[in-house]
Amino acid sequence: MRTEVVKLIKEALKKKGVKLEEDKINSMIEIPPSTELGDYAFPCFFLAKEMKMEPAEIALEVRTKIGNVPEEYFNDVQTHGPYINFFINHKGQVYEALKEILKKRESFGKSNLGQKRTIVIEFSSPNIAKSFGIGHIRSTIIGNSIANLCEFQGYTAKRINYLGDWGAQFGQLIFGYKKFGDSKKFKKNPLAHLQEIYVKINKNKKYLEESKKEFKNLEEGDRENLALWRKFRELSISEFEKIYKMFDIKFDEFTSESGTNNYLEKTLKELKEKKLSRKSQGALVVHLKKYGLGTAIIQKSDGTSIYCLRDIAEAIRRHKKYNFEKMIYEVGQEQTMHFQQVFKILELMGYGWAKNCVHVKHGLYLGKDKKKFSTRKGKTADLNEIIDITEKYAQKEISKRFPELGQKELKERALKVALASIFYGDLKNNRETNIIFDPKSFVSFEGNTGPYILYSYARASSILKKTKTKDKFSVPKKLEDKERDLFKSLTDFPEVALKAFKNYNPSIIANYIYSICKTFNEFYHAHPVIGSDEEPFRLALIESFRQVLRNSCNLLGIKLLEEM
Ligand code: ARG
Repeated sequence: MRTEVVKLIKEALKKKGVKLEEDKINSMIEIPPSTELGDYAFPCFFLAKEMKMEPAEIALEVRTKIGNVPEEYFNDVQTHGPYINFFINHKGQVYEALKEILKKRESFGKSNLGQKRTIVIEFSSPNIAKSFGIGHIRSTIIGNSIANLCEFQGYTAKRINYLGDWGAQFGQLIFGYKKFGDSKKFKKNPLAHLQEIYVKINKNKKYLEESKKEFKNLEEGDRENLALWRKFRELSISEFEKIYKMFDIKFDEFTSESGTNNYLEKTLKELKEKKLSRKSQGALVVHLKKYGLGTAIIQKSDGTSIYCLRDIAEAIRRHKKYNFEKMIYEVGQEQTMHFQQVFKILELMGYGWAKNCVHVKHGLYLGKDKKKFSTRKGKTADLNEIIDITEKYAQKEISKRFPELGQKELKERALKVALASIFYGDLKNNRETNIIFDPKSFVSFEGNTGPYILYSYARASSILKKTKTKDKFSVPKKLEDKERDLFKSLTDFPEVALKAFKNYNPSIIANYIYSICKTFNEFYHAHPVIGSDEEPFRLALIESFRQVLRNSCNLLGIKLLEEM
């Protein structure tokens, strides 16, 4: 409906010689405070300067240019001072719109923009032998949601996990394990023990120096080192898999830094042949100063390979395999320079598709002291801890509300609420902003939180359970303000999903979710449903709300509960 309004305004303005983009018009449209003033309003103040006329006059003239409006959409278009107010044909429009939502169900809001073309999205990509850190949580949650957004627009999304399983840190772990390893501790909690070792080594310059040798040996295929590395790797992967299972997130491919070992030689040769790499103080580099991107190190002086070269090799492999239209890397913003260098080098190598690679960044997760969480300093904040803390708060909140709940049920619900709290607490923020991890506020049942969303859904479900009517719904001639608001916000969903996709920004969905929940709760407070004259209509409205909320939450990877 909104789109119809935008089109009418655009055409009318064009006739007056004013060119405005649809997005711009869309952002200017207001919802009048009461249905007396219509359903949508377009303010004309801002045109006054350009058109050298009074806003009210402009409104009148634009109204004239709009001419007759299609009856199936509109009852009327009137001016009211400087505003042009659009009155929607509720009876017809609302009926059709609700019917559409209820017929399309989980497909409501989808488009076929992508026509099955492939978007590769790399996300999560934790580092082996380290606990699943907070940055990886963000990447996992946001990346998964972006993949969902792509699929919703008709793209084939290929989810790739690129494990950090190679590099200097393994020299440190191998060195440290040989020196401080405790097989009992290791058996009990492998990742925690390795983490402990990692911290110890990183505090000591001499250890760090000696670790380099161990890494070199590993790269050269030393049996003992390889066996240790394999052990660390397997254990880590099985820990990570538990997490993905709990999150219900699946990958199409598990790739890894070590997996690129087979392509490195070839890539090095290619870089040399294309005259891109240079020797510099024993290392191999690509000069990118011309592009404001400094110098990319391809290979260190001791011959050990590094991160950049691997990403180049891996990107080439992925393009061969998937022939993607786009490749998204959901990785923390601290790697901005790295990805700029990788994309530039690919471009210089002659890969035109490099321009279709994007680094979609996220900000940091901060502690309450506003300082960055860091593992290197030994301050561990891993996923399990985060879930534990959040779960405890959730249990408290739930048992306050449902003291009669059994232990098992309480636990199950608390985990679901905790996960929704963490997902929503993250996704409601603009990806690039730093967020403060505050479990207590994440779990609050009030305000813009996961539990508030779950609660709204459960409330809608419980109303539907109570009804006895089986009557088909019809739309009242005149809608109440809150009915109109709710209906209208639901019809915005397809547009919101598209916008979130275009910006790779799940927070657009999260904010939309919050606004429809608020609107639903206001509607519910203002109007009785069960037993009212408009029961069938209001039930249809609530059922549509549930559907749109489900579809939106699916995009974020949030699981709803029928009962809270
Ligand atoms: N494992 C890396 C880290 O934790 C992130 C990998 C990002 N992806 C990439 N293709 N480089 O920092």
